[in-house]
Amino acid sequence: PSFKLLLLPGDGIGPEVMAEVKRLLAWFETRGIATFDYDERLVGGSSYEADGVAITDSTMDLAHAADAVLFGAVGGPKWDGVPYEVRPEAGLLRLRKDLGLFANLRPAICYPALAESSSLKRDLVEGLDIMIVRELTGGVYFGEPKTITDLGNGQKRAIDTQVYDTYEIERIARVAFDLARKRRNKVTSTEKRNVMKSGLLWNEVVTAVHTREYPDVELEHQLADACGMQLVRRPKQFDVIVCDNLFGDMLSDIAAMLTGSLGMLPSASLGEANPATGKRKALYEPVHGSAPDIAGKGLANPLAMIGSFGMALRYSFNLTDAADLLDQATANVLASGLRTADIAAPGQATVGTKAMGDAVLSALDAL
Ligand code: NAI
Ligand code: MG
Repeated sequence: PSFKLLLLPGDGIGPEVMAEVKRLLAWFETRGIATFDYDERLVGGSSYEADGVAITDSTMDLAHAADAVLFGAVGGPKWDGVPYEVRPEAGLLRLRKDLGLFANLRPAICYPALAESSSLKRDLVEGLDIMIVRELTGGVYFGEPKTITDLGNGQKRAIDTQVYDTYEIERIARVAFDLARKRRNKVTSTEKRNVMKSGLLWNEVVTAVHTREYPDVELEHQLADACGMQLVRRPKQFDVIVCDNLFGDMLSDIAAMLTGSLGMLPSASLGEANPATGKRKALYEPVHGSAPDIAGKGLANPLAMIGSFGMALRYSFNLTDAADLLDQATANVLASGLRTADIAAPGQATVGTKAMGDAVLSALDAL
């Protein structure tokens, strides 16, 4: 099979970690697993320098045409003063908006080799593998009215509005159930139906989608606060967790801290499925930013970016075996004791970005 990719390395450590993914693309091609036809463009501060905007229209055209966009990171102190509309983040926000990326997937994986250095009890997190599916384009972050009014008596009133329509809940539920089928076949849906109308509708719609389209998947409902508690208390009970924008923001950050470093966390954002082909618009990116403090030094951990590419293999290209292979190679590298500085124990020897990339390639060769 052949796939069209758009690579957007961005700023800071973005290009450094993306370089390791380019070597992986070549590896998978050499092995005859797939061919990747890719374009590479500027985004963020580097695009602003060259073209005066955080992403150009022609780059957006390429993003629309791609089977998947791989995004590094954007931003840095150099662009703190640039006009709001062209600030580096505007590039990412335009991609999310124009591609209609309504589903944010954040896996929380704890490799056995890293469980030791986790701040949590080892048996709690060792081998953890959960997926948080967060609704990204609706809910209280966008609902109207959204105002602060002066009440005139020294008081002000702030209003945010949580709005969800049936179709928004249906499509995010489908993403969660589809993912569960490729994993351990269980979805936990979270809301606050005890105090919120949107929670009631969420629960009702997810249940209906389940009964109608996914009766083979196990579905449970948890109140969002209880879910937060369970995530910390017994995280391995979960497979896929689906939640609205606000609860997802919090639950995914909590889950992230079960796993260790920012340098280890991949993510994906998916759009609507094309009715003819079933394919979804998709953007894959590490959770971390451009890390200006270590940029240009060759020290960044490439595993979050590599893991994001792994998610593209799995969820956009349906190359499950290749994705499994890459995950296994990563696990083997970590088991061998190799560490970048961000995941090293105090006093442990560390390697840089390129050596970590080399090790993943060697581990792939050895599998
Ligand atoms: P950051 O994620 O860039 O860095 C936070 C800390 O984690 C730093 O100490 C950094 O060195 C470390 N770190 C991050 N990724 C790492 C990796 N792969 N390997 C080793 N260490 C790593 O977040 P920060 O410092 O808040 O933001 C820096 C810049 O990045 C800002 O301009 C911010 O706006 C931008 N940013 C961009 C994001 C994106 O492009 N999606 C997301 C978050 C921040
Ligand atoms: Mg957050």
